[in-house]
Amino acid sequence: MRTLHLRLPEADRSHPILIDSGLLDRCGELLVRAGLGGPVALISDAMVMAHQGERVRRALRQAGIPFVELVLPPGEETKTLSAAADLYRQLVRAGLGRDGTLLAVGGGVILDLAGFVAATYMRGIPFVSAPTTLLAMVDAAIGGKVGVDLPEGKNLVGAFYPPRLLLIDPTALDTLPTSEWRHGMAEVVKAALIGDPALWEQLRAAPARWAQPPEGRERLELLERAIAVKARIVERDPWETQGEREQLNLGHTFGHAFERLSGYRVPHGEAVAAGMRAAAVLSARLGLLETPDLPHELEKLLQGLGLPTRWQAWLSGYGIQATPEEVIEAMGTDKKRRAGRLRFVLLHRPGLVRTYGDVPPEAVRQALMETA
Ligand SMILES: NC(=O)c1ccc[n+]([C@@H]2O[C@H](COP(=O)([O-])OP(=O)(O)OC[C@H]3O[C@@H](n4cnc5c(N)ncnc54)[C@H](O)[C@@H]3O)[C@@H](O)[C@H]2O)c1
Ligand SMILES: [Zn+2]
Repeated sequence: MRTLHLRLPEADRSHPILIDSGLLDRCGELLVRAGLGGPVALISDAMVMAHQGERVRRALRQAGIPFVELVLPPGEETKTLSAAADLYRQLVRAGLGRDGTLLAVGGGVILDLAGFVAATYMRGIPFVSAPTTLLAMVDAAIGGKVGVDLPEGKNLVGAFYPPRLLLIDPTALDTLPTSEWRHGMAEVVKAALIGDPALWEQLRAAPARWAQPPEGRERLELLERAIAVKARIVERDPWETQGEREQLNLGHTFGHAFERLSGYRVPHGEAVAAGMRAAAVLSARLGLLETPDLPHELEKLLQGLGLPTRWQAWLSGYGIQATPEEVIEAMGTDKKRRAGRLRFVLLHRPGLVRTYGDVPPEAVRQALMETA
């Protein structure tokens, strides 16, 4: 078993990240060992329960932990205040008190929602999360952000509420649809570019190899390395006050604009892929890149992964026609925008990114033209 520790300024918020095959089958025993042997509310979605539910149920029974199952419909539509309100009421009816634990098993939707409920139900009860998508393992589960969407926008209500324990079982990915794997790989590529040049080399050396989950040790290492990049950044900026966490937005200024233009119909991972390519080209145009081949290498890697690299062609596949000007316009409402200026995370080389708040709109337009 690999154990990473996420160290936060408040010792009681620091927590271990356990990574090992079979952790779902041992979750009961691991809860007991962490002092969380009281009643459990298991929160998940119907798809995840169909594929992974029995493993979790059996593990809880074996450890003698009483539990209730609260299962929601899969999909982003579930991440709402009204779903949270339903969960609060079900927890009350199930008699869950502050000696209970909320165990979330699922993708980012379930983790965000359940974490938000754990943070607020009875002013906070212990939260344990077991991510089951690649994106949730390397991104959503790491860093303590939990929350729900509003009709006005995504993730507008939430909290920082790190779990007591984070259980990453690579075998949960055996049943993940390939499309979801690919979307998660966009965030893995992002992590490599931000903070792990060796991982970047490994990925770009054989792009097609990573289009499906690798087996065994290779899968475990991929997860461990991507998780480590995010965990280290979170440790330096746990409550998003130091600017460090902004690095995690590589490709996201463009990506969020694409998502917005599509009315959120395009998958986030695809938007990030196309956005990273545009950010790499923008970095080159501004003369920041020390490794001039990077935009081309990134294009080859993303193509090998089955991810888009040309934003206009990709959006038109979803029936969306947009011009570079419209993309720039759509960036104007990004919540990461500060004091009216667009902020971009730009690349110097794999492993070195910086945030810039003074990028000329003309350079952005040129980069968009070049990557259309
Ligand atoms: N809190 C954060 O820091 C953070 C960071 C990034 C993303 N997010 C959030 O994460 C969400 C996206 O997460 P996601 O991509 O995991 O989506 P998701 O939770 O919707 O899961 C994707 C789909 O995969 C299914 N699924 C999950 N695990 C499975 C498995 N092992 N086998 C078969 N099917 C499985 C789900 O039922 C769902 O249909 C968004 O709401 C986003 O805002 C949060
Ligand atoms: Zn993202």
